Amino acid sequence: MLCCTLSTTLLLAATCSLMTAVLSTKRAITCGSDGNVQRLSCDEGVISVYTALYGRANAVACSGGIPPAQLANTHCSQAGTVDVVKKRCDGKEECELNINVFYTSDPCFGTYKYLNTTYTCLPAIHLVACEGSLAKLQCDQGQVISVNGANYGRSDHTTCIYQRPLNQVQNISCSSPTPQVAASCNGKNGCTLAANNAVFGDPCVGTYKYLELAYTCYYPGNSLLP
Ligand SMILES: *[C@@H]1O[C@H](CO)[C@@H](O)[C@H](O)[C@H]1NC(C)=O
Ligand SMILES: *[C@@H]1O[C@H](CO)[C@@H](O)[C@H](O)[C@H]1NC(C)=O
Repeated sequence: MLCCTLSTTLLLAATCSLMTAVLSTKRAITCGSDGNVQRLSCDEGVISVYTALYGRANAVACSGGIPPAQLANTHCSQAGTVDVVKKRCDGKEECELNINVFYTSDPCFGTYKYLNTTYTCLPAIHLVACEGSLAKLQCDQGQVISVNGANYGRSDHTTCIYQRPLNQVQNISCSSPTPQVAASCNGKNGCTLAANNAVFGDPCVGTYKYLELAYTCYYPGNSLLP
């Protein structure tokens, strides 16, 4: 009896670790008409973008009601698209991208384009540190930090508002990604950073800010990404 209970437990444990190791890939395709919005989201964890193409790689996607001449070129892609999507979405639980963001240049004039993004949801630890406090990132023994994304500034009216005058929490368009957290913490087991202007610069003078970040812990040598 003992043997069977034990082996069932072991089997369950093996199944569980296998399941957490497999990260499913999500896909979003948004047709390139003016004002269309692509929405990426994770029910659990944070977004990690694998690929993003703005252009056209096949004749079928987003072809409804489009003249064939605008579908013929299937070798069209705008350089730098994946960097734009990563910068806006990596490390967030959800994000929205207006297709107009990619209207900066036209990689194939006369072709009807689309945005094709593949991403996964990484199990991540979310952390917010109000301006003037410390952000403490900590992994289990043997694991190291990988920062998925970090923003310093303010992007909502609800975070870090306690006992703050209204005029210090009004401007919610002053949050920008910061590379400092990744630079200081990636590859370490633990890491502490002060959330203040001396470390991150001041993206909006007079506004009370916060550092918002997401990170993942992994065993070095085990690559997180497939
Ligand atoms: C979208 O991108 C993925 C990954 O590159 C690719 O497998 C898929 O075929 C693409 N779909 C379209 C419609 O381009
Ligand atoms: C918010 O702060 C940013 C950055 O300093 C500034 O460009 C913008 O004009 C401010 N917005 C408002 C509504 O004050």
